[in-house]
Amino acid sequence: MKVLGLAGSPRRGGNTDILLARALEGARSVGAETESVVLANLDIEPCRHCEGCVDTGVCVVDDDMQPMHRKLLQADRLILASPIFFMSVTAQAKIFIDRCQALWALKYLLKERHPTASDGSRRRGLFISVGGQKWPYLFDAAVPVVKAFFSVCDVEYGEELFFRDIDPVGAVKSHPTALQDAFEAGRRLVGQSSPPHLLE
Ligand SMILES: Cc1cc2nc3c(=O)[nH]c(=O)nc-3n(C[C@H](O)[C@H](O)[C@H](O)COP(=O)(O)O)c2cc1C
Repeated sequence: MKVLGLAGSPRRGGNTDILLARALEGARSVGAETESVVLANLDIEPCRHCEGCVDTGVCVVDDDMQPMHRKLLQADRLILASPIFFMSVTAQAKIFIDRCQALWALKYLLKERHPTASDGSRRRGLFISVGGQKWPYLFDAAVPVVKAFFSVCDVEYGEELFFRDIDPVGAVKSHPTALQDAFEAGRRLVGQSSPPHLLE
């Protein structure tokens, strides 16, 4: 089983990077193959809304997003790790998500279903996020963004892992349970199987 981790923070070695690494470790502990992609390292333009993808489902902008579309469709499980920036995901993550408009065209205009996981189960995803504030509604704006992203990829929004009041780089390491929580969430992501995806 292949697990693709998307690191959405521009800060390397930061809190979401640490949590993503732990979740991938958890996934590997139950036999998954894992890959992590740092979105800030990709050379990707924002979506131009040029409609170039509507007839083919292929984005006409030739940059690092092309191989990422393939990776997204080949992954059995998906993890997006992004801190909260101004109440949403980071700009790096949002540009990446918007460029999935080609997958939206594939699914909704061309009526092509994205694959199920290699074991026939529905592909499932995990959203990991942290923010510096303690507000109870800290993740409320980011969640629908990520749900829409997962849905376009035909990935079930399986689980979320959120930590508030985490600001300095690496602060999440001092949280009493976060590292273990992330490990367990990665394990669960691979370990549990959802029923096979029903074609709509
Ligand atoms: C541009 C920017 C905007 C931010 N906006 C918020 C915010 O709206 N709410 C919040 O709680 N924290 C906000 N933060 C703080 C980060 O979410 C926090 O530092 C987090 O731990 C960073 O995670 P990382 O180490 O994975 O990059 C912001 C940080 C930056 C740089």
